[in-house]
Amino acid sequence: MDLVRIFDTTLRDGEQSPGFSMTPDEKLRLAAQIEELGADVIEAGFPIASEGDLEAVRAVAGGIRGAATAALARAAQQDVDAALRALEPATRPRVHVFLATSDLHLEHKLHMTRGEALDRIVRMVRYARQRCPEVEFSAEDASRSDPDYLAEVAVAAADAGAAILNLPDTVGYATPEEYATMFRQVRARLGKRAVTLSAHCHNDLGLAVANSLAAVATGARQVECTINGIGERAGNASLEEFVVALRVRGDRFALRTGVRLNQIYRTSRLLSAITGVPVPPNKAIVGANAFAHEAGIHQDGILKNPLTYEIVSPETFGIPARRLVIGKHSGRNALRTRLEELGCPLSGEPLEAAYRDVMELADRSKTVGDRDLLRIAIRARRSGQSAAAHSPEPSAAQGAA
Ligand code: KIV
Ligand code: ZN
Repeated sequence: MDLVRIFDTTLRDGEQSPGFSMTPDEKLRLAAQIEELGADVIEAGFPIASEGDLEAVRAVAGGIRGAATAALARAAQQDVDAALRALEPATRPRVHVFLATSDLHLEHKLHMTRGEALDRIVRMVRYARQRCPEVEFSAEDASRSDPDYLAEVAVAAADAGAAILNLPDTVGYATPEEYATMFRQVRARLGKRAVTLSAHCHNDLGLAVANSLAAVATGARQVECTINGIGERAGNASLEEFVVALRVRGDRFALRTGVRLNQIYRTSRLLSAITGVPVPPNKAIVGANAFAHEAGIHQDGILKNPLTYEIVSPETFGIPARRLVIGKHSGRNALRTRLEELGCPLSGEPLEAAYRDVMELADRSKTVGDRDLLRIAIRARRSGQSAAAHSPEPSAAQGAA
């Protein structure tokens, strides 16, 4: 199976979004875990942005050994120089040069003609490549660029020394079909040049993972993504969702990544702990509800065979265990199982009594916590025992029944 390289940009694109800034020390702690997770490249920051970010990239570059360290730079010499300085301690440095290629950005943001932008891209990629063994070029807003011009830029950047060409859907506008077509067109124009195409998708329409999958289906072999899907505006493609989709739908994508699935949950929670931003409960793969079941029919199915309502087991990701949430939609089977797990098994009339009390409580509060469950179960067991003690001896006929 072909390998898709994972370029983690949690510390750069992710960190750029409100509420997610990290100190150099925090970046280093998270980078160590992202390396443990199995990312191939860790983009540690944008060194020209501030002295602090340069220091953070330098700390990460010196602290990780297995993954490559990338530093972002606009196509400008002072940016590339800052990136090179920050990457000095790296064993595997990568300078990541970018410039927008859409007419919208060229005209309104950069005030450049297409020709000027092309010339600058070639000069800066060449400059970076003369000083760094690995250079990536990103055509910002690629998905809204003129396809012909984008292909011309890609060929020129490759010939100037970029080994990786990234075609971002910067504003999360593309559909999977459109994004795949763009990759096909650029690949066709690159001919036999040995460059890796890379996807970088934002989630403004909730399509970031779908677009990343569409890109790898057409031959992209690097995907840029973030832990918990954090990133500018609605975020980037979520690393865990992309990797797990490739794994679970191996029947559609005969592709693999180097990610250790059992490190996913730990990495997600470390990011939350460092930034203080909780993971939304309904977040795929790592949200608290991703493997929680409250509805009675679902709980019953899960208890009979987890495949009924789970496409993959939570333990695969290092998630402690599936949660049976007891609430007003739960059934007796789930309550019995949860009480067994809590060390207070019930059956027969005491289980019925406990079920009635639990449903009554659940009507008033959203879910019923373990303490309440235990209190109700103990009461039901006690009243079941005292009822048995006071009932008359069963007759021979009743005993035989
Ligand atoms: O979204 C984007 O286009 C980017 C580039 C700088 C790679 O983040
Ligand atoms: Zn981005």
